[in-house]
Amino acid sequence: MSYDAVELIRAKRDGGTLGDEAIEWLVRNYTDGLVTAEQMAAMAMAIYFRGLDPRELSTWTAAMIGTGERMDFSSLSRPTVDKHSTGGVGDKITLPLAPLVAACGAAVPQLSGRGLGHTGGTLDKLEAIPGWRAELSNAEMLRQLETVGAVICAAGSGLAPADKKLYALRDVTGTVESIPMISASIMSKKIAEGTAALVLDVKTGAGAFMRRREDATALARTMVGLGQAAGVETVALVTAMSTPLGRSAGNAVEVAESVEVLAGGGPSDVVELTLALAREMLACAGIDADPADALASGRAMDTWRAMIAAQGGDPDAPLPVARHTETVAADQEGVLASMDAMAVGLAAWRLGAGRAKQGDPVQAAAGVTWHVGVGDRVRKGDPLFTLHTDTPERFDRARQALDGAVTYTAADVVVPPLVLERIDRP
Ligand code: URA
Repeated sequence: MSYDAVELIRAKRDGGTLGDEAIEWLVRNYTDGLVTAEQMAAMAMAIYFRGLDPRELSTWTAAMIGTGERMDFSSLSRPTVDKHSTGGVGDKITLPLAPLVAACGAAVPQLSGRGLGHTGGTLDKLEAIPGWRAELSNAEMLRQLETVGAVICAAGSGLAPADKKLYALRDVTGTVESIPMISASIMSKKIAEGTAALVLDVKTGAGAFMRRREDATALARTMVGLGQAAGVETVALVTAMSTPLGRSAGNAVEVAESVEVLAGGGPSDVVELTLALAREMLACAGIDADPADALASGRAMDTWRAMIAAQGGDPDAPLPVARHTETVAADQEGVLASMDAMAVGLAAWRLGAGRAKQGDPVQAAAGVTWHVGVGDRVRKGDPLFTLHTDTPERFDRARQALDGAVTYTAADVVVPPLVLERIDRP
């Protein structure tokens, strides 16, 4: 059956619903180049304003999955469980989490991407480790999942190719921030990946996609619904992203912090979120184990080392260090009331940790580390941030990003909770 793309755009624009066959036709023909980018851009804007009802959304997601391959982990002896975060500043949780959950008996296929904009990409972080490679064949991935239990690697272009094309189009047409389209985008890739269980970390606050809490909750519910309908055991945590996570944002600096966590130390918020997500992942995978034990005993660290080595990395190699550093000091005395995650992400990006467009190189050693957290008392002149870069001409713009990034108060500050809500049904 053939459709007229313009008729479908008009129908959605005017508040109508699209039939299943029409959606399948549209997604397939856009992927194959028969529906033009202009037409899909108009459709994306119509969906941005009109939304998709649950039936349309589930058909749209299935149609995106149907444009590519589906992976199959059923031959593995361990249960598979994956995690997806909607992205935040200093969010390095995947790095300690994947080996931790694998050390408890699960297989964790963590297919990741590179960063664009103010939130870093997991692969960019791991590529700071000398020798580590992100590209694995499907056979290598399966072998590593069976032997080590955890793999963090580049998602192949064969998974939901419709999403790759549509996400790039949404990025340049002001249509990214649509709950149904974000849900279909994320869940099409995760369902195609073939994991049996999935835990979503949906961020909310100044440094997140979903700044408003109610939008984050709606996104979490929508994705949980899509996952469960596709037979994937799916749970979401809505977590705070007003303040950056941990004490570092960048590439090598985030790897170093993750290794500290695996060694039994590290910032308390990173440890708390890693353990909270690990507990959810193990429960979804049907594994009765306490991840705190695996962390404390060093088993998670052993799995990290095996995971890095299996992909050519040297877990003992020193991480790259920036050629230049500068300190930003407190300009007054007081108790830190807030630290703006978006400002810190922007500063790290301007120092060279992130890229402006796909394919740009990133600096492994660039980033921001901070020496104090919300609730800490500082005196005027105390160091707040250290800026790291190989290209010192970037310091000025990074400092500008951090102007006003922290606020102070005279009174004690109650640190707000990190995990705001758990969602296990649509
Ligand atoms: N991440 C994705 O993979 N897709 C979106 O649409 C937004 C964030």
